[in-house]
Amino acid sequence: AKARHFKWEVDYMIGAPDCLEHVVMAINGQFPSPTIKARAGDTVVVHLTNKLHTEGVVIHWHGIRQLGTPWADGTASISQCAINPGETFVYRFKVDKAGTYFYHGHYGMQRSAGLYGLLIVDVEEGKKEPFQYDGEFNLLLSDWWHKGVHDQEVDLSSNPFRWIGEPESLLINGRGQYNCSLAAAHDSKASGCTFRGNEACAPNILHVKPNKTYRLRVASTTSLASLNLAIGNHKMLMVEADGNYLQPFSVNDFDIYSGETYSVLFRTDQRPTDNYWISVGVRGRQPRTPQGLAIVHYQTTTASKLPTLPPPQTPLWNDYARSKSFSNKIRALSGSPKPPINHHRRIFLLNTQNRINGYTKWAINNVSLSLPPTPYLGSIKHRLTNAFDQKSPPDTFLSTYDIMKPPPNPNSTYGSGVYMLKFNTTIDVILQNANALNPNVSEIHPWHLHGHDFWVLGYGEGMFSKRDEDKLNLKNPPLRNTVVIFPYGWTALRFVTDNPGVWAFHCHIEPHLHMGMGVVFAEGFILLGRYQTRLFLVA
Ligand code: C2O
Ligand code: CU
Repeated sequence: AKARHFKWEVDYMIGAPDCLEHVVMAINGQFPSPTIKARAGDTVVVHLTNKLHTEGVVIHWHGIRQLGTPWADGTASISQCAINPGETFVYRFKVDKAGTYFYHGHYGMQRSAGLYGLLIVDVEEGKKEPFQYDGEFNLLLSDWWHKGVHDQEVDLSSNPFRWIGEPESLLINGRGQYNCSLAAAHDSKASGCTFRGNEACAPNILHVKPNKTYRLRVASTTSLASLNLAIGNHKMLMVEADGNYLQPFSVNDFDIYSGETYSVLFRTDQRPTDNYWISVGVRGRQPRTPQGLAIVHYQTTTASKLPTLPPPQTPLWNDYARSKSFSNKIRALSGSPKPPINHHRRIFLLNTQNRINGYTKWAINNVSLSLPPTPYLGSIKHRLTNAFDQKSPPDTFLSTYDIMKPPPNPNSTYGSGVYMLKFNTTIDVILQNANALNPNVSEIHPWHLHGHDFWVLGYGEGMFSKRDEDKLNLKNPPLRNTVVIFPYGWTALRFVTDNPGVWAFHCHIEPHLHMGMGVVFAEGFILLGRYQTRLFLVA
């Protein structure tokens, strides 16, 4: 195992992610930010200097569990203070498990501004993956708005509320095309792009040889969009999700929600005199954004030859039965760690859209998360009893709540309380979706947990009830760090509190998190009397 050192500077720069000039966040002048490559067991050391002139910054290593290093998690107000302009902060952490990960800003809405990059962890030297391939490619998916994030942030925090709308473009490795279509040849109404190939918004081209197997690593850091990805005429085999191996299954396309990563294998067994589109489109919301495109180039033909077939069409945005059937196919590779069969504590989290003094918010068990100025990790460790709400938020909600209707009393409250979780206990979380403020609206929310992977025990419709208990999958549930709740449904997950720290658990949709859609878990602190706590030191 090695230590891998990086010297990074974060700054704004002028870019053109979808061919239109726009300010983007960049690291060392690169957008998307540089890809980190490491091997399992390595230590990553990032010296991060904030070159922004007027705002703080932090970087979160999404999917890295930070075993024993909670202070390196990079969450403003939770694990650290935002790094001031001009200051340098050193992140040092172990990448203990091979897989596909990414990193991103975790202060304000900096992820939406383009502060993200990939983090690829290979298996240890001499070890093998449980599958074989001849080459690999990475695709980092994101969505892009022409309105700047500061304006977006003001819109979301205004009374009356202003929604940011749908993204103007979808980006693949930071590249999209707003004012022209790559696939114009298949669409008489679209005007084509004229690229020489070196433009910053020219599409990604994956150069492949015929009759080989490739691994495609796909990560979604979208701000809002749920996506579906397909490769024209090529089947894919799902093999990894969020850094955990899957029982392989074959698909023509797959859904990917913000915060998720997948590896798929595909075989280049199609006509080698053609090239093929990779298309990415919006699901779960009425799509008003054109597909994102990349090209699979068979090196037996010229790279500039456009695919003969049109780009694969994205499945209907509201075909939730199709999305659920995909999610339900995801199982852990046999031999993967199994969940404990019993839980010590079960927390029910009701997801609702609410109002506070006329402002539109999201709330969990009627509490809308409002992060305190002092980071929890320090304030809990040093027993600063006035740094955040000392009362913990509720473990459940009224069993008579009608999740099919808008909240009868939409008023909610701000809160900064934490869930105190005992060390080495098994925690269940039942995420319960509900109707939003408008009738007949319930949205998709991809929930992401810091500091852990969790087992996804199951999904269901309507209100979770005792009868659903027997349907939970304790046999081969997949380990993930992000899981979706479908409209009007529930999702059950389980994890073991074996990693002392303070961990965010939140909806990965950036505007939703900004509007309070999250909770905070503090784990491994011993309660000493009413308000006093102490960090539980393991080893
Ligand atoms: Cu990728 Cu707290 O998020
Ligand atoms: Cu959400």
